[in-house]
Amino acid sequence: MSGQGDAEMSLICLSDFEAYAKDHLPKATWEYYAAGADDCCTRDDNLLAFKRIRLRPRMLRDVAIMDTRTTVLGTEINCPIGIAPTAFHCLAWPDGEMSTARAAESLNLCYVASTYSTCSVEEIVTAAPDGFRWFQLYVYRDRKLSEQLVHRVEALGFKALVLTVDVPYTGKRRSDIRNNFRLPPHLKVKNFEGVFEEHCGPDNYGVPANTLDPSISWKDIYWLRSITRLPIIIKGILTKEDAELAVEHGVQGIIVSNHGGRQLDGELATVRAYLWSRNARLQSQDPSRPRRLQGFSLCRNILFSGCETDLLLSALNCFWDSAETWRPIMESSSQSLQEVLRSQGSLGGHRDHWEVTGITGRSQGSLRDHCDLAGRSLGSLGGHWEGGHRDHWEVTGITGRT
Ligand SMILES: Cc1cc2nc3c(=O)[nH]c(=O)nc-3n(C[C@H](O)[C@H](O)[C@H](O)COP(=O)(O)O)c2cc1C
Repeated sequence: MSGQGDAEMSLICLSDFEAYAKDHLPKATWEYYAAGADDCCTRDDNLLAFKRIRLRPRMLRDVAIMDTRTTVLGTEINCPIGIAPTAFHCLAWPDGEMSTARAAESLNLCYVASTYSTCSVEEIVTAAPDGFRWFQLYVYRDRKLSEQLVHRVEALGFKALVLTVDVPYTGKRRSDIRNNFRLPPHLKVKNFEGVFEEHCGPDNYGVPANTLDPSISWKDIYWLRSITRLPIIIKGILTKEDAELAVEHGVQGIIVSNHGGRQLDGELATVRAYLWSRNARLQSQDPSRPRRLQGFSLCRNILFSGCETDLLLSALNCFWDSAETWRPIMESSSQSLQEVLRSQGSLGGHRDHWEVTGITGRSQGSLRDHCDLAGRSLGSLGGHWEGGHRDHWEVTGITGRT
């Protein structure tokens, strides 16, 4: 961040970035980025659940050298932090996703580009040709739309598909309704340029309403597998049952996520769901399956659970305005996450992130040992209401039909 003004120099943690963005972005843009669904209970819980985690530091373990490098799906990255798929970066900065991609490339972090990018996948790749990237996909009623995107990103060298499964319909974000949120005319969902030109009906976040396919189910994983050789990662898993189904359906990773609380309000906080999903896998390991789902969490709102390693996916640091350039900001906010990892890791007595997470057998403890989550065991999942149901009988489960 050298060469920038005092305001930028005082941005030393993610809440500083958040406050700055709120001050500088237009109200409707800020509220779109900050939105949760309905009463925002889950969005707020995501933050609180992180705050409630307590660590058990170990002492006298020589932390003079701290190594944050790791490998995810076979690629080495500098740090188990990645940039979560988020829509519409050009609302905050003219260069939008291109600058995001450059920042991720220069830090050697994983960037998951959203289908709903305001730069096309081709522009993103041209901007940062050597970046390590995955592509976030939705399944559309018109399967050809999804298929064409898959073939485009495969040809462009994206390394995995992240299938977001928690959006059969878009969550009700009240602020967007109040603000009548629309992309300004100069911006588009660039990956669909030319596709919906004739459309003149209702619009849903830059694409015609009802474009997404709410009938998507586990069998579509086989369909997706049949059209691509890329690894498939499912984003939006929140229960041990679905984590296990995902593994059974042969996916290479899951992202435990409640979409930042933007979809089903009342869902579990991501970090709690994540710990449960991870515990489930630890209890039912099967050597014929891909390596167990592994876990890691230090920062709020952000998680990935993959097959070789775990990654934090951050959306918080993506949105920005009025700085001299977006890229140094992206770099700096990602670096501040990296710093958290380094300092918390070494203060906790760990020399690398494997030791922090305890996921490879290389450390003495596991994440569970480091978190004071007593009493929140897998068994209590049964007491929670769930989503993904077709009628109220399924919701209540009281007729024996489920
Ligand atoms: C403004 C905004 C836009 C987002 N856009 C997308 C998107 O296009 N695709 C997607 O899969 N997730 C999207 N997300 C969700 C994030 O990828 C991520 O899941 C969320 O911010 C963090 O919540 P989690 O820890 O529960 O995953 C978006 C989140 C925000 C805040």
